[in-house]
Amino acid sequence: MSSAPAPTTDWPLHVAVRMQASYRQNDPALDALYCKAKAQQWDVDDYDWSHELDHDNPLRLPDPTLIIYGSMLWDRLDADRRVEARRHFQAWTLSQILHGEQGALLCATKLAQGEHELSGRLCAAAQAFDEARHVEACARIVNDKIGIAYPLSKSLHALLRDTVCSSELDITNLGMQILVEGIALSLFQTIVGYSRDEFVKSLLTRIQQDEARHFAVGSITLTRLYTSELSGAELRMREEFVCESIVVLYEHLCADDIWEPLGHSRKECASLVRNSPVADALRRSLFRRLVPAIRNIGLAGPRVEKVLESLNLLNYMHWPLAPESA
Ligand SMILES: [Fe+2]
Ligand SMILES: [Fe+2]
Repeated sequence: MSSAPAPTTDWPLHVAVRMQASYRQNDPALDALYCKAKAQQWDVDDYDWSHELDHDNPLRLPDPTLIIYGSMLWDRLDADRRVEARRHFQAWTLSQILHGEQGALLCATKLAQGEHELSGRLCAAAQAFDEARHVEACARIVNDKIGIAYPLSKSLHALLRDTVCSSELDITNLGMQILVEGIALSLFQTIVGYSRDEFVKSLLTRIQQDEARHFAVGSITLTRLYTSELSGAELRMREEFVCESIVVLYEHLCADDIWEPLGHSRKECASLVRNSPVADALRRSLFRRLVPAIRNIGLAGPRVEKVLESLNLLNYMHWPLAPESA
């Protein structure tokens, strides 16, 4: 079974393409990450794609990773209906990752054109090929291995569009490298940590390694900009973007789109998920990398803190930034 494909949409792209006169790489931190990117290239075809995923549990994850686990709805489902719920939730999650990877590809190509310094442009160009690999790998899993594809969620669509299309290059960097990649990295970490499928673990570990590098490039670039170069008003605009994005991502993780295909009431299930301590803990845990990163780049002002507090995410503000694993 497969949901209807999402409509293709055209997004306007605002970027001044820069033809530089200088070819000097003068940024040791970014240059080191570019060298790592070259050394860590890999091929999706390195993997044995004849491997079949478990039909009943494609990612071989324990049921407590499902947002309806432990709810009245879960308790009502028989074994077959639990298989359906497992397959759809995992397919939805990987479909959203796939759409996010396409968004990352668009952002990386934009940054490669618009970054002012050569070191940053080379990192973005290397990232573009990483994201191409991620799109290829995730599309194969979603379409060929699981066979259930979900459209981009409405909330993630809005965030990706704002991120890709912003006329401010740093917003593209912030939205993709810190916010979307921050959630994606925690998600990959969870799947790699709990999956009992070695193919899935190995493939996602390679993708995770690339993503950690992208996250590091974004953190370095934005920390410099936000801690010394922008005005107070410009920083407030970025903080507003962070506040809105956090709320959007938190809502997105409710996976509202899976209930109707499963034959349940969208309204009832949406309410059930929003009132479930299990779902709340799972959704909150995916912010464990994003929140310390926001603090680190200098955008954790009172407005951001207020939003984090309202979503019970403020405790992550005191967490150390996850060690760089790139
Ligand atoms: Fe990616
Ligand atoms: Fe990435």
